[in-house]
Amino acid sequence: MLLDTLTKGFRKTVIAGNWKMNKTPSEAKALLEEIIPLVKDASCEVVACVPYVDLATALEVTQGTNIKIGAENCHWAESGAFTGEISAGMLKEIGVEYVVIGHSERRQYFGETDETVNKRVKAALAAGLKPIVCVGELLWERECDITTEVISRQLKLDLWGVTAEEMKNVVIAYEPVWAIGTGKTATAEQAEEVCEFIRMCLKAKYGLEIASGVTIQYGGSMNDANAAELLMKSNVDGGLIGGASLVAEKFAAIVDAAKPAEY
Ligand code: PGA
Repeated sequence: MLLDTLTKGFRKTVIAGNWKMNKTPSEAKALLEEIIPLVKDASCEVVACVPYVDLATALEVTQGTNIKIGAENCHWAESGAFTGEISAGMLKEIGVEYVVIGHSERRQYFGETDETVNKRVKAALAAGLKPIVCVGELLWERECDITTEVISRQLKLDLWGVTAEEMKNVVIAYEPVWAIGTGKTATAEQAEEVCEFIRMCLKAKYGLEIASGVTIQYGGSMNDANAAELLMKSNVDGGLIGGASLVAEKFAAIVDAAKPAEY
């Protein structure tokens, strides 16, 4: 789409590592110290989403650098009797900027539903965090040819009640579940097709201007070898990187691949 190609340059490219349940605080410090010099000239936003216990260390180590820190989840209540949970306000107060919401692993293993995703997204936005909202189809759903239905439903439910103004702080991550941690990446064409569809859904709800400004990431086995091809696509504005974000050189190579093409 010509319009997307033209507007891509105005959107923020966000390369975010999703460390999942990896790295103790001391290991986190070591990894970030390796990453910092490698990405210091990045032309995109660089984010590391790390386990809760690593947040304080990560914030301290990255102070004064171009790396932003994110959490991997947050609760929807401001406070209360929710043993073991962390609120968006708690994250905000310590300096966290981003938070991954609705990752497929949370949907798959921890009973996350579109309803709870929606509540978390709204809580994150109310606290002043930038949610990275994950959507994506299962392999079975792709094989049944209902990918667009699945994505459209997730977007409608996950973003219910989110205003156009708030959308300026929302990042969408398209993560086909069959591509996560499997080494099976969606082809650049498959990624573009769904990311373009996501933008169309956003346009239908929020209008062209807002939809053109939303960063849409691809995630699912993105690595240093395939990042450039994926990131070249008009509607792929970044990546949510699992495995490859745990290796400094690989993560830095993906950040490097996000440099805008020179015309
Ligand atoms: P992966 O994970 O890069 O290891 O496939 C991506 C993600 O889960 O966000």
